[in-house]
Amino acid sequence: MAKPKVYITKEIPKEVEDYIGQFCDYEKWSGKEKISREELLDKLVDKEGVLLSALKIDKELLDHAKKLRVVSNVSVGYNNFDIEEMKAHNVIGTNTPEVLDNTVADLIFGLILSSARRISELDKYVKEGNWKPEDEKNLFGVDVHHSTIGIIGMGRIGEAVAKRAKLGFDMEVLYYNRNRKHDIENRLGVEYCDFEMLLQKSDFIVLMTPLTKDTYHYIDFEEFNMMKTTAVFINASRGETVNEKALIEALQNNNIFRAGLDVYELEPIDSQNLLLKLPNVITLPHIGSAVEKTRSDMAMVAAKNLVKAVLGETPPNIVPELKG
Ligand code: DGY
Repeated sequence: MAKPKVYITKEIPKEVEDYIGQFCDYEKWSGKEKISREELLDKLVDKEGVLLSALKIDKELLDHAKKLRVVSNVSVGYNNFDIEEMKAHNVIGTNTPEVLDNTVADLIFGLILSSARRISELDKYVKEGNWKPEDEKNLFGVDVHHSTIGIIGMGRIGEAVAKRAKLGFDMEVLYYNRNRKHDIENRLGVEYCDFEMLLQKSDFIVLMTPLTKDTYHYIDFEEFNMMKTTAVFINASRGETVNEKALIEALQNNNIFRAGLDVYELEPIDSQNLLLKLPNVITLPHIGSAVEKTRSDMAMVAAKNLVKAVLGETPPNIVPELKG
């Protein structure tokens, strides 16, 4: 019997490609640039499955790719899926949870420490030859240990951040989530907190909520105004969960102490974006899961989801909204 046809849109490790090749007849994108929309539409005409990340799956694509049965994301986030259209077209969507939790949590802690103690800012200060003993007091940061962290979105990555905060840094951990997580409260001693109270009480605010139509600009002018002027705000989820204009205003007016960002409303960030001109924000290029082993594990999870689905079995990581 002929193998199902699938398309791979990004570079993946050889062993992952070989795994897909055992079960599928695959074609892959080999261009240096990201695949264009036109090329993708063209390639998907005769494919039953596609492995990708961050490419929009919408009505136009689904109408075009008539044989498509599965979109396998190499990411835990799936805001690139138009869930309603995928339901209407009977297309499964999968993601890669768990394998990246600790890697992303490590990066979030890097942003917390680096923002609090101004590590990247002061590294630049030294390298640019500005170090003067009389500056001593201007180099102060804020403590992370024994402070209060507020985590918005207590999923698996939120829990991994909470664990580091509680066990490593003796922090008081508050969290806000749609549903209370009694198991995590019992396991780690974290405290459920009302959303506004969390914004008001936290020294570090970590936004971990996925991007949906309900969380678009979840943190806006009003929310930044509720934060302490000494607060550090971290976003490593998706850029559009924050109104960047409100964040820029908060940073320009020193209404918060620092921000540490891995994600933006537009990626790659526009070179004119004011965030790039401000000294009190760290700007990373969406590297939450960017560790070779983690990316390789994510690719293998995505490959297994893809293969199961095109073989007519139920893949393990169908996104919750498309289950059942
Ligand atoms: C994800 O998997 O959604 C992350 O943003 C990748 O870094």
